[in-house]
Amino acid sequence: MDLSTFPRVPLGSWPTPLDTCPRLSAELGATVLVKRDDVGGIGLGGNKLRKLEFTLAAALAEGAGKIVTFGGVQTNHGRLTAASCARLGLRCELVLTRSVSRSGFAYDRSGNVALDELFGATVYLCDTDEEAAEIAAALADDRTVTLPVGGSSGLGVLGYVSAAAELAAQLGDRHVDRIFCALGSGGTVAGLALGTETPITAVTVSREADAAMAVVEQVAGLAADVLKIDEPKLDHVTPDDSALGEGYGVPTDEVWAALRLFARTEGIVLDPVYTGKAAAALVAGVRPGETVVFTHTGGTPGLFGYAPDLAAEARIGALPAETWIHRLTHRIPGSGP
Ligand SMILES: Cc1ncc(COP(=O)(O)O)c(C=O)c1O
Repeated sequence: MDLSTFPRVPLGSWPTPLDTCPRLSAELGATVLVKRDDVGGIGLGGNKLRKLEFTLAAALAEGAGKIVTFGGVQTNHGRLTAASCARLGLRCELVLTRSVSRSGFAYDRSGNVALDELFGATVYLCDTDEEAAEIAAALADDRTVTLPVGGSSGLGVLGYVSAAAELAAQLGDRHVDRIFCALGSGGTVAGLALGTETPITAVTVSREADAAMAVVEQVAGLAADVLKIDEPKLDHVTPDDSALGEGYGVPTDEVWAALRLFARTEGIVLDPVYTGKAAAALVAGVRPGETVVFTHTGGTPGLFGYAPDLAAEARIGALPAETWIHRLTHRIPGSGP
């Protein structure tokens, strides 16, 4: 698919690495390759940069001076929109809604929210979607471009059409049975689905399988309009809600176990809202001998929004405290601070 006619601003470092993960693979009895869209680029990286390269280029071409967008309190899309606006000299207003029943300093002030403000964005915290819509309407002027939740507009999807081509070039003639990817607002999976025929297991983090698939279809349709192609066939996409648990932003025990597994076998950090759920579905569902690509879509700063849980979960299976005390008291003189 030729995307060269669409304006694009550089925000990421492409290609992102495709890591072979021998210790994780051995643990799971399958070959797992991790596409590291969590690394590279500005604002601590993540899948949203690929979408923003297209959506913000179009906004600049329209003469935008201000970007307004939406999300939950710990939105990664908001953080990367803020970082990208800083890079491009655009004003950024983030209208965030309390969509997760969590509060406290870590969730409300740390992680992505702190970074939003560090990048110079103005953050509005709302209790309802109606309130968010009112604030967004009040912020709009004739140089404002509004981006949808998750950046999943038709143009935004092109970022992952391009990522699919990047992945295909990295794989060469290596066979892959399926791609695992987290599914939220739908743009990432829709883009991959338009760009590859490899089966995709789309791990939904916020809706049950049928509703999540309907979102992918709708967003893929928006992209098809932009690309001026026929309504796409999405038979190779299978929605998977096995890791949904109690819903958006609520990590399960399996999610924390997946975080520990990726961290302790490969030094790869997942987040508890998106990639942790995708990884939990992979751990439970990968078949012996399969070769799969796990799309690491980023979200790492959101982990610190869950700092109290992280501190507790990280210790499970770690060295007991007495071991640390033993090590500290037996430090070789002059070997450290
Ligand atoms: C880290 C991370 N992974 C995956 C997703 C899901 O991507 P999409 O919204 O395109 O479905 C998001 C969306 O916010 C995200 O922040």
